[in-house]
Amino acid sequence: MKKRLSIIAPLLIILASNIAIAHEDSRQFVKLPKMMQKHMMSNMRDHLEVINEIVFYMANDQLDEAADIAESRLGMSSLKSHGAGHMAKFMPEGMRQTGTSMHRAASRFALRAQEGELLPAFNALSKVTSFCVACHAAYRIR
Ligand code: HEC
Repeated sequence: MKKRLSIIAPLLIILASNIAIAHEDSRQFVKLPKMMQKHMMSNMRDHLEVINEIVFYMANDQLDEAADIAESRLGMSSLKSHGAGHMAKFMPEGMRQTGTSMHRAASRFALRAQEGELLPAFNALSKVTSFCVACHAAYRIR
């Protein structure tokens, strides 16, 4: 019991300090026209859906399906359908770059997944989600 506490206590402290950090919102506010704001949020919900489907396919060893959906809905092939070109104009440079890096990472993931090895594919997927997290930590649009 004591041993378990000595592991849990530091974890709780780290967790609590992260929550404290999350409360002071230091994200940069990016003002978008109302329509674009809606459009971006709907893209975002689609991004999450895609990540969920990718994880599902990977759990079922369907790496080709994971690759297809990653490239067409999140990768470089998806930029046009997202209207990324229009939105990029309103974003600060750092945000634009993080967005591009995320789309590039998704295309790289698709290539890795096509090679058929689960572990390298997971590694490539974690790069994609790291860019999601990085952008969310730095920017807000409302
Ligand atoms: C270039 C920056 C950027 C990238 C990359 C990014 N997001 Fe977002 N996302 C945002 C911003 C900004 C918001 C809105 C935050 C706010 O103002 O509330 C957001 C909001 C969201 C929301 C909330 C949608 C809603 O309707 O409430 C989800 C879900 C989301 N993102 C998922 C993702 C996922 C999954 C990825 C990666 C595959 C991702 N995002 C990549 C910037 C980004």
